[in-house]
Amino acid sequence: MITASESLRLRYEDEVNPDGSGDVPDMLAVMLARGSCRSYRDGSVEPGLCSLLCAAALASPTKSDLQQRDIVILQDPAVKAGFVELVGAEAWVRGAPNVAVFCGNNRRQRQLHSLRGHDFVNDHLDAFFNATVDAAIALSAFVTAAEAVGLGCCAISAVRNEAAAVSDLLALPDHVFPVAGLAFGYPAADAPAISMRLPLSATVHQDRYTETDAEAVIKDYDLRRQAQQPYGHQRAPDVFGMVETYCWSEDKSRQYALPERRSFGAFIRSKGFNLT
Ligand SMILES: Cc1cc2nc3c(=O)[nH]c(=O)nc-3n(C[C@H](O)[C@H](O)[C@H](O)COP(=O)(O)O)c2cc1C
Repeated sequence: MITASESLRLRYEDEVNPDGSGDVPDMLAVMLARGSCRSYRDGSVEPGLCSLLCAAALASPTKSDLQQRDIVILQDPAVKAGFVELVGAEAWVRGAPNVAVFCGNNRRQRQLHSLRGHDFVNDHLDAFFNATVDAAIALSAFVTAAEAVGLGCCAISAVRNEAAAVSDLLALPDHVFPVAGLAFGYPAADAPAISMRLPLSATVHQDRYTETDAEAVIKDYDLRRQAQQPYGHQRAPDVFGMVETYCWSEDKSRQYALPERRSFGAFIRSKGFNLT
C-alpha cells in the first residue's frame, strides 16, 4: 500500500503535508489511500464477513439512538439480476459479486408510537432527513470497514433513478426507502486510483464559513486534476459537443444540466413522508 504522505500528495498536492513527513495510524493510511472500486475478482464475500461488516456499519452513530436505517443484502440471484436490470446504465454493477442496499427507515419509529400509544407529531421533512442521514452514515461506515479488510466498494445512487421499482423489488414498505446501493467484493486491481479532492482551504472553514474565490479555486483544481487524472470520456457529447480540454467543472455542470430523478420527491411522498 502507498504511504499516507503519498496519498495526501496525490489528493491534495502539498497542501496538507508539505514536508512529506508524518506517520499516521494504519487505519488513517487506509482511509487516505481509498478509492471506489468498480471491477472485482470472481468470488463473493463470505456471509460471515458480510455480517461482520453490517455489524460494524450499524455500530456507527445514529441520530438520537433512533437507528433509522437498514441494510438489504442481495443474496437471491433473481433479486440481484432484477437489481442489475434496474440500474442498467451502470454496466459495471453486473460484475459486482455482492450488492447491498442501504435504506432509510422511519417506519420503526412510527411503530414505536403505535406500540406506546403516543402520537407521532413530527411528520415533516426532518423525519425523512434523519433517516437519510443515518443510512448515509451506515453506508460510509460499511465502506470504511470493508476497505480496511481489503475489499473494494462503490456506492450506487442509480437506485434512485428507479426508486419505485427498486422499492418493489426489495419489498420496502411505507416509510422505508432506498438511499444508495453498494457494490462490494475483492478488487481486481491491487490498489484503487486515488481521486483528487478540492483543496481543504476551500472546503474546511475556521469558525465561520469563508467564501473563497470559487472561480479561481475551481480553475486551479480543474487544471491540476486534468494533469493528474484526465477524464477518459466526455459526458453527453451529443448534447454538449466535444471540447478540447475537458475538466471536472465541465463534467459536473454537464451532469446537472440534464434532468434526472424528477420523480424521486413523488416517490418519497408515496412512501408516506410529508416533506413540508
Ligand atoms: C452516495 C453515493 C452514490 C454514488 N453513486 C454512484 C453510482 O451510481 N455510480 C458510480 O459509478 N459511482 C457512484 N458513487 C461513487 C462516486 O462516483 C465516487 O465516490 C466519486 O467519484 C469519488 O471517487 P472515489 O470514491 O474513488 O474517491 C457514489 C458515491 C456515493 C457517496
